[in-house]
Amino acid sequence: MLQHAVAALAFVAGSSARLQTLRPPCTPLDVASPYQSTWSCADNLFDESPRFWTGELLEMVGLMQVDSKTFRFMGVNNVAATPVQKELQVAPTSTTYVFEAAGVRLTLSFVTPATDLDMDIVMASRPVTHLTFDVVSVDGSPHNVQVYFDSPAFGVVNNKSEVVTWSRPESTSLAVMQIGSKEQHLLGAQTDLINWGYSMIAAPAQQAGLHTVMHSAEECQAAFAAGKYTQLKDDESGPRAASDRRPVLSVAWDFGKLQPEQASMRTMMLALNQVMSIRFFGTEMPPLWLHHWDSAVDMLEASHQRRDGDVARASMFDKELIENLTVAGGTKYATLASLAYRQVTGGTQAVWNPVKEEPWVFMKEISSDGDVSTVDVIFPAFPMFHYLYPEYFRLIMVPLLVYGANETKQYGMDIPYNKAWAPHHLGTWPICDLPANKQEDMPVEESADMLIMIAGLHKVQGSLDYLSAYWPMLDSWADFIVSSLPDPGNQLCTDDFEGPSPHNTNLAAKGIVGLEAYAQVLDANGDAARAEKYRQAAFGFVGQWEAMGRDGDHYRIQFNLPGTWSMKYNLLWQKVLGLKAFPQDVFDREAAYYQTKLETCGVPLDNRHLYTKTDWSLWTASIGTQDQFEAIVNGMFKFANTTTSRVPFSDWYDVSTCEAKGFRARPVQGGLFAKMLVNAGNHLTVYA
Ligand SMILES: *[C@@H]1O[C@H](CO)[C@@H](O)[C@H](O)[C@H]1NC(C)=O
Ligand SMILES: *[C@@H]1O[C@H](CO)[C@@H](O)[C@H](O)[C@H]1NC(C)=O
Ligand SMILES: *[C@@H]1O[C@H](CO)[C@@H](O)[C@H](O)[C@H]1NC(C)=O
Repeated sequence: MLQHAVAALAFVAGSSARLQTLRPPCTPLDVASPYQSTWSCADNLFDESPRFWTGELLEMVGLMQVDSKTFRFMGVNNVAATPVQKELQVAPTSTTYVFEAAGVRLTLSFVTPATDLDMDIVMASRPVTHLTFDVVSVDGSPHNVQVYFDSPAFGVVNNKSEVVTWSRPESTSLAVMQIGSKEQHLLGAQTDLINWGYSMIAAPAQQAGLHTVMHSAEECQAAFAAGKYTQLKDDESGPRAASDRRPVLSVAWDFGKLQPEQASMRTMMLALNQVMSIRFFGTEMPPLWLHHWDSAVDMLEASHQRRDGDVARASMFDKELIENLTVAGGTKYATLASLAYRQVTGGTQAVWNPVKEEPWVFMKEISSDGDVSTVDVIFPAFPMFHYLYPEYFRLIMVPLLVYGANETKQYGMDIPYNKAWAPHHLGTWPICDLPANKQEDMPVEESADMLIMIAGLHKVQGSLDYLSAYWPMLDSWADFIVSSLPDPGNQLCTDDFEGPSPHNTNLAAKGIVGLEAYAQVLDANGDAARAEKYRQAAFGFVGQWEAMGRDGDHYRIQFNLPGTWSMKYNLLWQKVLGLKAFPQDVFDREAAYYQTKLETCGVPLDNRHLYTKTDWSLWTASIGTQDQFEAIVNGMFKFANTTTSRVPFSDWYDVSTCEAKGFRARPVQGGLFAKMLVNAGNHLTVYA
């Protein structure tokens, strides 16, 4: 068990920023992209093996030896002794564990410095997680200490029977090891786990007491426990199945004899060299960092050079972000948003587009169906990017605009998109190749999502240049929304996992907000006449919306169903964008009504089930008062802190049992940042 009792609030190292003590459903360890996503889903890091986001066991192991006695601090093997896990803290870019065993404290941190996604996208999208092992004698006695870490190939094969090879790429400053499938079918599997590319470990070669070995897990771990690790050499017997005497990349340090209070530190990097990331309608797009550096070793050497600065900047960023989140929404809110951060950035992949010679970004619809850049998945994720990284998000929008506007031919496949509404997605990760007739149409949903996101980006970025070729297409989307309102009829909306919901009140609200949002963008582009047309349409529909949707002290889920209700989360954007179509009393009435539906772990999405969505919960919470907001956040915190559904932060759960329904590790948790967009504390420049 975790030591919950110690303190309800824990200080973030070196600052006044504090987080609530949280037992995350899963703790992010190395979460940098949809293919690089390692979590610990147990209370203690040593209770079970770390897992891929799917739940697949990745079988990494960490051991520490104190005066010849071996303890297992990570994963599982035949070493029975474990340290005491004293602390666990999940900040936006880092996870820190504190262990104690036999008078020695080990502080282990994982830092993925994905912070400057707008200002320095190449650096921020490197596939690197820094591990730091800090040891200190805390019992007043000297101790001999050794620390060991290993990782097999299970993160880079689909199937543990696949044959893998291992090698040592040459480096002057680092000890580098890599392991990956022998076949290396680039982009060869449309599965959640990659089965090409290489999992890598790199440790600074100069570190005192460093030794590295590529051999079977059993040989390496046994040699370490027996104090003979430094005599072990690489297994050169050649490729074999990933599960056959599990080959691992292993690293260990002999810290020597630590005097009382003497602290000592060693570091290493975990990395994934994807080699190739995405195929976009025939064109292969490598990870962005591989356009900047010639090889993974060059990238790792540069990362080692920058390490201290990167780790310090990431820590400063964490403190600032936690402080800002706390001011806006309290410590529980800051704690949940911190847990979400790497899940969101780690749901994306920055690539190099060799046709346009520019960076692009894709987001994966993780765990629901693996779609590439689903519009109604990037939309719920948008608040975090609106607040922190609008330019990075714009690079997610561009491929969708290109596809919607029939521009795929230059990439090799001429796929006309002949629909009057916005696309739903681009393909199944990692391949974008979807013909228009295979789309999962959600016409008003996706069209209004796109127009709202375009208005949101304009609000914080000012520029509309990237839209110059797309105005006729955007008009056609807006016209389609006009023709669908006031009642969107029998259309799918994003909550289709709950079943169809025709005549949907919230979808109609989205259409109205979308039209007024588009009018704002047209105004900014100097097109007052067209702006007026769509603004008038939006205002005109509100009266009908009120008449058809009102159900006493709240609004219905469907226009045709009296006695029902639902979250009208789409109204958020009226507040964020400073629009006016809906009168304030609609917000007040709805926000007050949700409070009457509070269960143990939050408010349901609508009257159909006791399910909720974390993103929509915080969108609606953010349009209410501070007390209403905190009541909903308290429920969600209880879910994250107590649920027995040990999967990476689910966005779909039952508010009465506090169990997840489905969906895990999805980047839609970026929606938790909605509060930051409606508070006065919003630090971003506003151009509108
Ligand atoms: C895994 O790979 C092995 C050997 O290539 C094959 O025999 C087996 O059917 C595969 N299993 C799955 C579940 O794909
Ligand atoms: C926090 O808020 C301050 C003040 O608004 C702002 O300058 C800073 O950029 C914000 N930082 C983060 C990481 O949110
Ligand atoms: C794309 O091409 C199709 C026909 O092939 C056409 O119907 C559609 O209007 C075009 N879309 C745009 C945005 O030009």
